[in-house]
Amino acid sequence: MRQSENFTYEVGGRTYILDAKQAKDAFDAKRVINGRQGPEFNVMPLKYKWAYDLYREMEANHWLPQEVPMFDDIQQWKDPRVLNDREKNIIRIGIGYFCAAEGIVGDCAQTIIRENLSAPELKLAVGRHVHEENIHTESLLYMISSLGINPHEVTALFLSLPSVMKKNQVVTAHLPKLRRDLDLSKTENKQLFAKTVFGITQIMEGTQFYGLFLPILHLMRNGKMPGIGQMFRYTLRDESNHIELGRRLFLALTEENPDILTPAFKNELIEFMRAGVEAEVAFVDDLLPQPVAGLSPDEIKRFVHYNANRRLIALGWEPIADSKGEVILDNPFPWSSEIIYLKKNENFFETTVTEYGKVSNLQEVKNEDELFEGIQI
Ligand SMILES: [Fe+2]
Ligand SMILES: [Fe+2]
Repeated sequence: MRQSENFTYEVGGRTYILDAKQAKDAFDAKRVINGRQGPEFNVMPLKYKWAYDLYREMEANHWLPQEVPMFDDIQQWKDPRVLNDREKNIIRIGIGYFCAAEGIVGDCAQTIIRENLSAPELKLAVGRHVHEENIHTESLLYMISSLGINPHEVTALFLSLPSVMKKNQVVTAHLPKLRRDLDLSKTENKQLFAKTVFGITQIMEGTQFYGLFLPILHLMRNGKMPGIGQMFRYTLRDESNHIELGRRLFLALTEENPDILTPAFKNELIEFMRAGVEAEVAFVDDLLPQPVAGLSPDEIKRFVHYNANRRLIALGWEPIADSKGEVILDNPFPWSSEIIYLKKNENFFETTVTEYGKVSNLQEVKNEDELFEGIQI
């Protein structure tokens, strides 16, 4: 059989020699869902270059919990002059909530999102997402063992708060049963899939997580529990990539499948976000029944709304109002932007994290027209 022309394809600092016809066929058959799936080499050329870009960035951000020192945290945890009961409660609930939440996100990302995707570069990126949820779980285990916390007590505390149960239930009740065999030729199932991507990455990771991240970062900023704060900061950096991965997936999915985003379904998703925010606001009252120094429950609630609106606006949608009719578009905690939203700031808290590599500049990836231009296929 006569081969078509070979061409060199460069991406991420590497060069690949590809058969033009097979590369074009693979490229053309790629879809977010319902695309070609098979055992053949099909990652290159990239159709969803943003996914590979994110994969490489996530890989470069790799961190190991046990590299974060916990000595100060262990001392402070035992000293009521440093950490009062309200502050300890924030840490306990934080550990309890995230132990459960990392599991929910990891399971959904693996068994609903990854298993139903077809383009290999998307599977690669979501596989890394799932792995990072494991790292987060490992960091929580490290915190529990370092502080001598009894995990059953943390779970009991966690389960005793109806607001916590509610906030998980709001998300999970909307998701399809954990399934890898959704019939994605049907619009209603495509919508369930889209809802899972939106619910997990934009509501749970993108909005609800922030109600707890913020008080923990506030403690760290005041010199309290620096090791735990640092681990949550790395977790947040990972979450930023998970949120962006989910956003790009959602946009690509709905662009390729125009039947998904009907006005009614879009409205359903916005109501879903509203329910997620409401549940988080109720949770803040349990988390912080009284203010701790420099932090009031009302400000955290505003922060939750602010994050919800960031997610909606990033999808090109309108922001939503809070219960008083106010649309919150400004961060009530400007200091947090520096910690949360600036990704490349490794030495901010002067701890060392292994550098696993630099992200290559993937901007040189060409679009389809440029990629196959002038090549004999
Ligand atoms: Fe996580
Ligand atoms: Fe995550």
